[in-house]
Amino acid sequence: MNATHRGAQADASAPVGGLPPASAAERVQWLREELDRHNHQYYVLDAPTIPDAEYDALFSELQALETEHPELLTPDSPTQRVGGAPLSAFDTVRHRVPMLSLNNGFSDEDVVGFDRRCAQGLGRSAAAGEQDLFSAAQAVEYASELKFDGLAMSLRYEDGRLVQAATRGDGETGEDVTVNVRTIKAIPLKLRGAAPPVLEVRGEVFMYRRDFDKLNARQAEAGEKTFVNPRNAAAGSLRQLDPRITARRPLSFFAYGLGELQGMERPATHSAMLDGFAAMGLPVCQERAVVKGAQGLLDFYRKVGEKRDQLPYDIDGVVYKVNALAEQEQLGFVSRAPRFALAHKFPAQEMTTIVEDIEVQVGRTGAITPVARLQPVFVGGVTVTNATLHNEDEVRRKDVHIGDTVIVRRAGDVIPEVVAVVPERRPEGARAFVMPVTCPVCGSHIERLEDEAIARCTGGLICAAQRKQALLHFAQRRAMDIEGLGDKVVEQVVDQGIVHTPADLYKLGVAKLAALDRMADKSAGNLVAAIEASRSTTFNRFIFALGIRHVGEATAKDLARHFGKLDALMVADEAALLEVNDVGPVVAQSIVNFFGEPHNVEVIEQLRAAGVHWAESEPAARAPAPLAGKTFVLTGTLPTLSRETAKEMLEAAGAKVAGSVSKKTDYVVAGAEAGSKLDKAEALGVPVLDEAGMLALLESAGAGQPGEQP
Ligand code: IVH
Repeated sequence: MNATHRGAQADASAPVGGLPPASAAERVQWLREELDRHNHQYYVLDAPTIPDAEYDALFSELQALETEHPELLTPDSPTQRVGGAPLSAFDTVRHRVPMLSLNNGFSDEDVVGFDRRCAQGLGRSAAAGEQDLFSAAQAVEYASELKFDGLAMSLRYEDGRLVQAATRGDGETGEDVTVNVRTIKAIPLKLRGAAPPVLEVRGEVFMYRRDFDKLNARQAEAGEKTFVNPRNAAAGSLRQLDPRITARRPLSFFAYGLGELQGMERPATHSAMLDGFAAMGLPVCQERAVVKGAQGLLDFYRKVGEKRDQLPYDIDGVVYKVNALAEQEQLGFVSRAPRFALAHKFPAQEMTTIVEDIEVQVGRTGAITPVARLQPVFVGGVTVTNATLHNEDEVRRKDVHIGDTVIVRRAGDVIPEVVAVVPERRPEGARAFVMPVTCPVCGSHIERLEDEAIARCTGGLICAAQRKQALLHFAQRRAMDIEGLGDKVVEQVVDQGIVHTPADLYKLGVAKLAALDRMADKSAGNLVAAIEASRSTTFNRFIFALGIRHVGEATAKDLARHFGKLDALMVADEAALLEVNDVGPVVAQSIVNFFGEPHNVEVIEQLRAAGVHWAESEPAARAPAPLAGKTFVLTGTLPTLSRETAKEMLEAAGAKVAGSVSKKTDYVVAGAEAGSKLDKAEALGVPVLDEAGMLALLESAGAGQPGEQP
């Protein structure tokens, strides 16, 4: 057993090694107690005491001692949690005290009715009027707790040692899952303190959501089946015939009830019993309260309901139990459920419904998301008609067909999603989903680049779904640098239908802009001037402004330098693009797709027609960038050039400008107050230039001035 994610600070009270010489038996005993204590701290109290490595060291020492002295090995040793050989089947276990189920309530009225029946059954309401039910003297006292969404389990301890663990089964007989349950670290193999000869603890085996997510990620990575929800994962893990598999599944446990008890007085109340369990080292959930009357129950329900989504595990309601065990007995049972308890359910977060169609939605960045159109279903407290399917691979992995019955989940504010198909309910002729080839919004082609899960619309410049994003990208400082064209303006000009594509910006006049919300005449004038000024730009800025997927500023510069002219870039095929510095197949494909989309070409022509221009040059291929392949690092303040200008000059000559000095750095350009980068350059023997030296190098390499194309 190797406890992961302990990550605690060392605990000064826990000596490791260096103990006075003791017999092996004493040392083994001490190690077991230490390990049990740390396990309890970690898995039961959620308050780790020692770092992983120290725990592992104690564990290894115990293992070694037990190997050396097999006579000292006992079944409750912490080393014995990892089970042995696989079972061929589970034995059945007859429950000496049956495992019953709970009656369910769904509304306030159900709760009021439950409370009234309890009060009546306890002879409290005969004298009391309806209103008096809530009065302090007459009100019944309840232990309120959470209804965990896992699997009921009965743990049998004899003289404090875990001897059997059984599932609920039909309530009379369950399955013997002892070897599996022994691997659950939250469950003590040995109880603390004085334990009775027989104690059966009832509770729920479940999985924390974070553990479930990790498990599923691990399963997916290993190409194994993933689980629909934590409950299914817990059930699947417990029913493993090979306990070594269960041992790798992060299961947890909360105790909530009592089965058989021998040789010990029962406590007076349910809440005292849970406190007793906790004292014995059993995990007991702290989200519980003792309340009075129907109002107390409803307040508890509401409080837990508000917290439900923040809890680290799934619950499907709360459970109310008459607190005094004597009163529980007095109330007794009807058929298979106690009269003294009620499960008050929350709206289900998972429901089944039918997929009527699968459509795709286009996001702000052009991402295409398949969405299931559902027969309306009430889930997680609202009526859901759509659920996301995330992407094409997800649809395939979950194998969702149109017509399928599916499990839909909506938890908290999370967007509803299809978690799984119910395969046995697939109707004949159910159709598989086919990713469309064109965007449902603008009709441009949909591309899916190699290695990417998300398909995207290529009509970035014209697609209505992407308009706002595209305009903000186009106008940003490092692109066309249109100051004043921010979120608010873009929002309005798009929503009012004034601007459809970046080319429309060049048709805007002061009058139209000044009419916008919160736009003063002066700012409108400034914005028009900024748009005007942006007509004169550089080739690399223009390329970057187009918003081609994977073409950032640096790639735009490489492309500008390499092709020199827009027409050359627009007709470049993949092979030609691959010749550009740092352009790989994915980027090349993205560029080919972009210019292959006639809608985009149209907007580019409109931009040129609107007077957007830059200096073009002959392709750099004929005059290769003189500093291509060289890496520079700039540090300190240069006497005349700004850091930005120096960088542009170097990059224009084909050099790369990096942020830190390494063995791969060719030159460091240092100015005043250069710091550690200069020291590092000297230490590594990297040549150091000053500004004049850099300019001389550029000149000798035949590079031009900033802004010009080489
Ligand atoms: S008490 C005699 N308490 O709900 C009553 N059950 O429908 C025995 N459950 O099979 C159950 N949380 O798996 C009880 N705090 C809780 C519970 C709880 C979850 C489950 C349990 C049981 C089912 C009863």
